[in-house]
Amino acid sequence: MDYEKVHVSLLISAMIGCLTLTCVSSEATHIVGDRVGWACPSYNGFYETWARNATFNVGDVLLFQYNPGLNTVVHVNKDDYDHCTTRNVMETYFRGNSSVTLNHPGDYFFFCSVGKHCEAGQKLQIAVSQGNPPSQTI
Ligand SMILES: *[C@@H]1O[C@H](CO)[C@@H](O)[C@H](O)[C@H]1NC(C)=O
Ligand SMILES: *[C@@H]1O[C@H](CO)[C@@H](O)[C@H](O)[C@H]1NC(C)=O
Repeated sequence: MDYEKVHVSLLISAMIGCLTLTCVSSEATHIVGDRVGWACPSYNGFYETWARNATFNVGDVLLFQYNPGLNTVVHVNKDDYDHCTTRNVMETYFRGNSSVTLNHPGDYFFFCSVGKHCEAGQKLQIAVSQGNPPSQTI
């Protein structure tokens, strides 16, 4: 009977998995839209609802899952976000499955610049918090 051995090796692989995944850092990866991914949603407030159900901290990563050519991600300011315009694009992602690291606190605005996707609700606004305060900065 090798129960003991099996048990130990399971324990070890659980520990390794833990080390390489969540236990070491508190940063989270958010898959935008969860199962829907980054696509024209079935109703206009979809990404608003999705965002309301999550908390975003500095250091977290947004993962936009989409196929290149069909969608893009543009990082814009509030004015562009509100009007679906691209006057002040800070960053454009178009290669598919884009990761965006949230490296400062504040509001972030994104939308898809393809066709009328933005007007159809493929847009995301989130508020990013500082998270754990940095150790003593006086
Ligand atoms: C909100 O998040 C929880 C936990 O991840 C999940 O179980 C729930 O289905 C989510 N609700 C909505 C409306 O997405
Ligand atoms: C994006 O990620 C999804 C889920 O992991 C995968 O099925 C898809 O092939 C990826 N697409 C690209 C363009 O990398």
